[in-house]
Amino acid sequence: SQYETILVEQRGPVTLITLNRPQALNALNAQVLADLLAALAAFDADDSQGCAVLTGSEKAFAAGADIKEMQAQGFAEMYGTNHFSGYETLTKTRKPIIAAVAGFALGGGCELAMMCDFILAADTAKFGQPEIKLAVAPGMGGSQRLTRAVGKAKAMEMVLTGRMMGAEEAERAGLVSRIVPAADLVEDAVKTATTIAGMAPLAVKANKEMVDAAFETGLSMGVQFERRLFHGLFGTADQKEGMAAFIEKRPGAWTGK
Ligand code: HXC
Repeated sequence: SQYETILVEQRGPVTLITLNRPQALNALNAQVLADLLAALAAFDADDSQGCAVLTGSEKAFAAGADIKEMQAQGFAEMYGTNHFSGYETLTKTRKPIIAAVAGFALGGGCELAMMCDFILAADTAKFGQPEIKLAVAPGMGGSQRLTRAVGKAKAMEMVLTGRMMGAEEAERAGLVSRIVPAADLVEDAVKTATTIAGMAPLAVKANKEMVDAAFETGLSMGVQFERRLFHGLFGTADQKEGMAAFIEKRPGAWTGK
């Protein structure tokens, strides 16, 4: 494969990306970031692919940023290279990415899962932001995305104590969309991704973009953004096809136009 730290496989219209540094519990080093960015750029550009699944191993989605890589770095290197800012590029992927999390999703691993569009959790999933135990703090958006996902009380407790949260607590708190048995996780995620990939491609992008806008705007601007995109979809051939198909009681045949 062209990647060192991930496995990439196409399952029909779904790109399955598996983090693959088992010796380090999938800790995220510079090579993982480079591999992920390359694989996701290829996915986003490939018209045959409609949704991605990002997963890890049974034991760990990812146990964080690579502590051994960061340990010797000083402020000048971290700030000078804007360390971790590359992950922002990942969030610019226009097609959806589902995080399928089993085992540990800690620190940067939890943050990477939260950068995806939603998280499906195995019953074995454990989420946490334990950076404070290393005398640092989240650096890949965790303090912001966790707070938006679960609210201030739980986010503050999590970052200040570094404790882990299991799958059930994560589902109750709104961090994950669903819990599935660990043995079915990847299969379920690929099935969910296949459903999404079967929708009209422009509608998928528009739906993702408008939900994301909820985190960037106030309510009235967000609703206006939604409505303009909604209006825009009426300029697509697939809207005509989708509504005709409903009336004619048949599945839609999308052109992506
Ligand atoms: C580098 C890591 C690692 C990490 C685990 N390993 N996590 N290497 N960076 N984040 C390595 C271990 O050193 C060990 O290597 C191997 O993976 C197996 O891990 P063990 O600790 O032996 O496994 P276990 O006892 O099962 O414990 C699992 C664990 C623990 C609870 C997940 O590994 C752990 O606490 N990891 C660190 C979690 C963490 O602090 N994450 C946040 C990182 S900071 P060897 O060579 O000994 O076999 C972060 C920051 C983001 O993400 C933003 C700003 C700083």
